[in-house]
Amino acid sequence: MAMSDVSEIDQQHQELVKMLNNLNDAVAKRESRESIYLIIDEVIGYTRFHFATEERLMVNSGYTDVEFHKDKHRQLMEDALHLKEKLADLGEEMFTDWFKHWPFTRVLAHIQYADQQFEDQLRRNGA
Ligand SMILES: [Fe+2]
Ligand SMILES: [Fe+2]
Repeated sequence: MAMSDVSEIDQQHQELVKMLNNLNDAVAKRESRESIYLIIDEVIGYTRFHFATEERLMVNSGYTDVEFHKDKHRQLMEDALHLKEKLADLGEEMFTDWFKHWPFTRVLAHIQYADQQFEDQLRRNGA
């Protein structure tokens, strides 16, 4: 059971990274504001779904760092919501510039470190 939870999380991470790459491409190709808006909405919706999955698995498995991890999720969610705000506030040109500094690597670092720790525990428990 624990192993399938790990692969579920991994699969969601792949999906999330794919969506973020789509967003990156769309901004780089200067696609219309409408289509970028749709991708951002997709990213926000999927991120919410993914964080809920992880947090549920954490609570169910008795993970000790759940509150700390939830707090990291809240911060990442703010970064994601910022995308939408900025696209609405800034013109397309300025958004493209602003987006270059969006903390994409923070998401990757979270997956590589914080999520990895949780997955390691799931694997240990599942053995
Ligand atoms: Fe994650
Ligand atoms: Fe996480």
